[in-house]
Amino acid sequence: MGVFASTDDPGSTGHEQVVFCQDKQTGLKAIIGIYSTALGPALGGTRFYPYVSEEAALADVLDLSRGMAYKNALAGLDLGGGKAVIWGDPEQIKSEALLRAYGRFVESLAGRYYTACDVGTYVADMDMIARETRYVTGRSVEHGGAGDSSILTAWGVFQGMRAAAEHVWGAPTLAGRRVGVAGLGKVGKYLTGHLLDDGAEVVATDVNPKALEWVRTTHPQVELVDDASALVAADIDVYAPCALGGALNDDTVPALRAKVVTGAANNQLAHPGIEKLLADRGILYAPDYVVNAGGVIQVADEIEGFNFDRAKLRATKIYDTTREILRLADDEGVPPAVAADRLAERRMADVGRLRTIRLR
Ligand SMILES: NC(=O)c1ccc[n+]([C@@H]2O[C@H](COP(=O)([O-])OP(=O)(O)OC[C@H]3O[C@@H](n4cnc5c(N)ncnc54)[C@H](O)[C@@H]3O)[C@@H](O)[C@H]2O)c1
Repeated sequence: MGVFASTDDPGSTGHEQVVFCQDKQTGLKAIIGIYSTALGPALGGTRFYPYVSEEAALADVLDLSRGMAYKNALAGLDLGGGKAVIWGDPEQIKSEALLRAYGRFVESLAGRYYTACDVGTYVADMDMIARETRYVTGRSVEHGGAGDSSILTAWGVFQGMRAAAEHVWGAPTLAGRRVGVAGLGKVGKYLTGHLLDDGAEVVATDVNPKALEWVRTTHPQVELVDDASALVAADIDVYAPCALGGALNDDTVPALRAKVVTGAANNQLAHPGIEKLLADRGILYAPDYVVNAGGVIQVADEIEGFNFDRAKLRATKIYDTTREILRLADDEGVPPAVAADRLAERRMADVGRLRTIRLR
């Protein structure tokens, strides 16, 4: 995959900037990818992961940073899209010095990129990185941060699901519907609470016995099934993938009995073409990056000085955005994932263009 976009290189990605950072002493090897700053500084988390190769790390950061540009655009944020990866095993090499070295590289970009938590990085790591850079979100409440982003992620997924329910059944509620939640982690737990409060029946599964124990004691009315395949084949109205990516694939989509898919997991479509398979089966898929934007909305709010109520209000708008995308998909005769991409690209072009109007 080439980074530089050119008309005769269809494999090029069109990223604005890709920065390789190294600090030999601490073992830091990081790549920061900035896909677009058309709407503002690029925001996206730092993934700390033992990639098999530098090529794999680069491919991931290019892919993830592009995804963040689309997610932030549709979340209505004045932020572009970026992401970073630290190549290495966090269990082995994560240290104060490594995180602070990384923070200095983030600072060196002078605000073109804001970082946040992702797989392998936590709130405490952001607090550490913040000792070297101003351009960090996802810090702890004690350090002026937004804390646990799964709270508004779950709230946003619930709003997206309400919009999908309205599109299919005519009313923006899950009352009386059976919703299958795959993954009772940080997001799945909050989502289960919102669904039960709304009057839905919840069927769930998780591979972690602790998560199952939590649901048995907190919400004994939740029905549990053995695994995600059993959930897919269960008699449910809505399927909510809240564990890992690739939940919608060539095996699960033909077996799925739900009419709606709305969940928190990133990259739910295992490969391009799955969105068409879903549409052909008459299953409405609310795109993951639209409905799971509550977390980025929550941490982005830190840039203005965190205010939970304001962030929640913004995350509630995921209901309106999902509605608009589903309507656009119908009007243009395309799957919702395609309509969402079009809407994001339109906002990046229309609002991004305004910066060409000189202010002085
Ligand atoms: N936390 C956020 O703010 C946020 C924001 C956007 C997207 N997401 C995405 O949402 C998903 C869930 O995030 P989270 O923060 O709740 O993660 P988490 O690690 O807290 O929870 C994931 C849960 O899924 C379970 N799980 C893993 N494999 C499973 C399987 N095969 N079948 C059933 N359960 C399985 C795990 O045991 C765990 O309980 C992830 O894909 C994440 O990338 C999270």
